[in-house]
Amino acid sequence: MTMLEIIEKKKLGRELSREELIFLAQAAARKTAPDYQLAALLMAIRLNGMTDRETTDLTLAMRDSGDTADLSAIPGLKIDKHSTGGVGDTTTLILAPLAAACGVTVAKMSGRGLGHTGGTLDKLESIPGMRISLTEEELIRQVREIGLAVVGQTARLAPADKTLYALRDVTSTVDSLPLIVSSILSKKLAAGTDAIVLDVKTGSGALMRQLEDSIALAYAMVRVGHLAGKPVVALVTGMEQPLGTHIGNALEVREAIDVLAGRTEGDLLTVSLKLGGCMMLLAGLVSSPEEREARMREAIANGAGLRKLKEMIAAQGGNPAVCDDTGLLPQAPFVRTALCGQEGTIQAMDTAALGRAAQAMGAGRLSLEDQLDYSVGYILKVRIGDRVTPDTPLCELHAKTEADAARAEAAIRAAIRIGKEPCARARNFYAVITEDGIQRIGENA
Ligand code: URA
Ligand code: CA
Repeated sequence: MTMLEIIEKKKLGRELSREELIFLAQAAARKTAPDYQLAALLMAIRLNGMTDRETTDLTLAMRDSGDTADLSAIPGLKIDKHSTGGVGDTTTLILAPLAAACGVTVAKMSGRGLGHTGGTLDKLESIPGMRISLTEEELIRQVREIGLAVVGQTARLAPADKTLYALRDVTSTVDSLPLIVSSILSKKLAAGTDAIVLDVKTGSGALMRQLEDSIALAYAMVRVGHLAGKPVVALVTGMEQPLGTHIGNALEVREAIDVLAGRTEGDLLTVSLKLGGCMMLLAGLVSSPEEREARMREAIANGAGLRKLKEMIAAQGGNPAVCDDTGLLPQAPFVRTALCGQEGTIQAMDTAALGRAAQAMGAGRLSLEDQLDYSVGYILKVRIGDRVTPDTPLCELHAKTEADAARAEAAIRAAIRIGKEPCARARNFYAVITEDGIQRIGENA
């Protein structure tokens, strides 16, 4: 078997065998094939697609290209949740403690920010002292003790994806359904959890902007998860605007704490409760969606969710006092408000551009070696459908310098369209996808 033969076969649109896909994953992990051959094969896959059988075999081969975590020493079903990436998407920091407070065992491996999207690990590291790299033994001990850990994945987890993802990024092959599915699921399967809740975003800040593409991606992940032996439930949720109002690492931690403390409601809480409910469903805990949501709301009202986050922060070396006083989180030196400056209705947002605005302030990486500034970002004061006047606050900027604040303000203004016509609110939910198929959601639930 040679790489050239495999490229030739996929170029002609033929189905690759399991052995050929293992050859590909091994070549990527060990870097035994030159980048130009891997890149050519990625483009052939992007253009000719893969069957579910091929995607599953590639996923398993990528999973097996490195270490796999064995969490069997933790009793019960371990449930993971993964988002395809968004802006102001802080659901993990809310639903993981809430689900854990309701009895779900959560051992979650999270990622860093990618492009315009934020990453849970970066947000967690904005908490003073917080450690996100635990050994497998530490992870197991912590989850056995408190039922919750959110950590980074080790470098040896699915190394084939590391190589392939970096090549996809620079060869215009990121937007391939089988390549996205195998990339995400190989890492999730290697992380050793028993079932996965997927949050597939759709809209102007999402990996897949078009609804039908997002639904196709979600359905493919559910089918391939099933073929690979892991139950997957997927929700397709809206990313037409940032999900939460806070964008930036420490600011997003602050918003998550505000939600867990019962001080804030809104779309971020709504989506977190729905995803958390899916985790409870997969854990076999409570029967009806209403009951699941009520249990999590109770964990907010009685403080159990916030206590669980505190326990996790303390267990991972962080300062749990941030949960009582968010002023202990990193604070930016320049804080000021910008106003809408015109009358009308918020019509639309370029959410990817809003993410890039925070990234440019220092909240995200522009190159691999960039150091993040955890304190910077902004709080968006408007949502799609809001009526505004010139004096309505548009955003509260948290910047390193006034010049940064001014640049961010201009970028945020350019990304938000204010018009004369009325405009409906953006939807949170579009579809729920299980092995039984696609269930479209008509109204904002
Ligand atoms: N996130 C991943 O990990 N992989 C992809 O291919 C896309 C998003
Ligand atoms: Ca292992």
